[in-house]
Amino acid sequence: MTNTSTKLWSGRFRSNLSTETEDFTQSIEVDSRLVPHDIWGSQVHAIMLARQGIISDEDLRHILRWLGKAESDFHDGKFVLTPEKEDVHMNVESYLIEGAGSEYGGKLHTARSRNDQVLVDAHLYIREQLLDTQQGVSRLCRVFLAIAQEHSGTVMPGYTHTQHAQPISLGFWATAYVSMFLRDQKRLNAAYELVNLNPLGACALAGTSFPINRNLTTELLGFEAVHEHALDAISSRDFIAEPLFALTLLMTTLSRLGEEIVYWTTYEFNIATLDDAYATGSSIMPQKKNPDIAELTRGRTGRVYAALMDLLTNLKGLPTGYNRDLQEDKPPLWEAFDVVQSCLGVLPGLIETLEFNTDRLELLVNANFATATELANFLVSEQGLPFRKCHEIVGSVVGSLAKMGKTFQDWEETQKLLQSEGIDLSVTQLQRILAPKLSLRNNRSLGGTSPAEVRRMVEVFEGQLNEIDYQIRSRQEQIDAAYQKTLRIIEQVMEGKAAAEVNF
Ligand code: ARG
Repeated sequence: MTNTSTKLWSGRFRSNLSTETEDFTQSIEVDSRLVPHDIWGSQVHAIMLARQGIISDEDLRHILRWLGKAESDFHDGKFVLTPEKEDVHMNVESYLIEGAGSEYGGKLHTARSRNDQVLVDAHLYIREQLLDTQQGVSRLCRVFLAIAQEHSGTVMPGYTHTQHAQPISLGFWATAYVSMFLRDQKRLNAAYELVNLNPLGACALAGTSFPINRNLTTELLGFEAVHEHALDAISSRDFIAEPLFALTLLMTTLSRLGEEIVYWTTYEFNIATLDDAYATGSSIMPQKKNPDIAELTRGRTGRVYAALMDLLTNLKGLPTGYNRDLQEDKPPLWEAFDVVQSCLGVLPGLIETLEFNTDRLELLVNANFATATELANFLVSEQGLPFRKCHEIVGSVVGSLAKMGKTFQDWEETQKLLQSEGIDLSVTQLQRILAPKLSLRNNRSLGGTSPAEVRRMVEVFEGQLNEIDYQIRSRQEQIDAAYQKTLRIIEQVMEGKAAAEVNF
């Protein structure tokens, strides 16, 4: 006696699923992003089964016809996933069984489990998302490089403890972000390498007694290699944790950038002005111009961190094999990709249109002893004194000037105070030593703020970005080429060729 359940796994059950169980366990909202990937994975699996003689060419033709229809119906909004069918895999399989009939549709799931199927779908989807994210990071880097090119000699105060520290250039500041983002690119790249492996064929956890060909599905899905160990492949979610970690650090950088934009655009700082297109107003205070994009970037960072914590917490107690907990691996990663990519969508425009108040930057860099280290360095080189002694002399001059409400620019006073410490320097000499623009030029050490170094780093970073962009493009082409190969096979099979005889 069998029950009346429509579930594809209902054979061993004697009564229907409660609606509460159905609601509680289904994952169609999260899975709906995976429909095209589930279909591609199924096409490739079916082709492999037929080439290996596990299903017939006639079976294959029926399966491919209905998978193709599922794809175009999904595209046209006519194939909508339903929660009663639990997940994307069951929805696609049911579509096939309903269309082609169970004698054909039912054969697709030979030598495959939803456990490896969901992995394939996720691997394919994450691969694309990582490349999109990398593209967004590159776009942002290019905006910073343009700023660096224009402003390699524009002075501004560099900060430590959010206090004026030493003069740097605006270009130096901009290249710092490029330097950070290039590391994000490396992490995203490493995540891509881990995700670009084929789990299909791991089946439920133990492989299969059918003579499957995992190398063929690897080739047709454009993966770099097979994730061989079936139990490991089924149990592991590093391929989700690694992108998530890369995204958390990327988001950290975006958030810190957001923080800088917020206070740089305050009345108090007034060193940058947001373009009207990238700022918002207040519903009550007519004068307001708010940096909401920067704030929301900062504010959404927690969601990405939470996603990583969510996944790690999920994984830490799981025994080997598939556990249903693993269905919860996808929502946090989807969330993290969405947040990061929306930030990457808007920030390049915001930074590109940001107007820097270079007069104010120059005023600030002269206002608060930012060149004190330069003076100490000069005394070391010219007077042969130990640095500690020079530090003390300059510190005492600064202390006295600050007490009088004066700056280095009160040249006579500065000269007099130095004289009282036994240092004889003319005003012209002082003006040269203490000019921020000149001090910039002196910091020629590798990776320093001198315009020459900034220009050199711009070139190096540009070269690295070109390489990354080239790699992104060639990976996109590899994915596309694999997909085209699958389509070519489908075309030949549909024209009547035997699966074993198709060329690709
Ligand atoms: N929806 C499941 C997931 O996302 C698919 C795999 C289900 N496997 C199973 N044995 N119930 O993980």
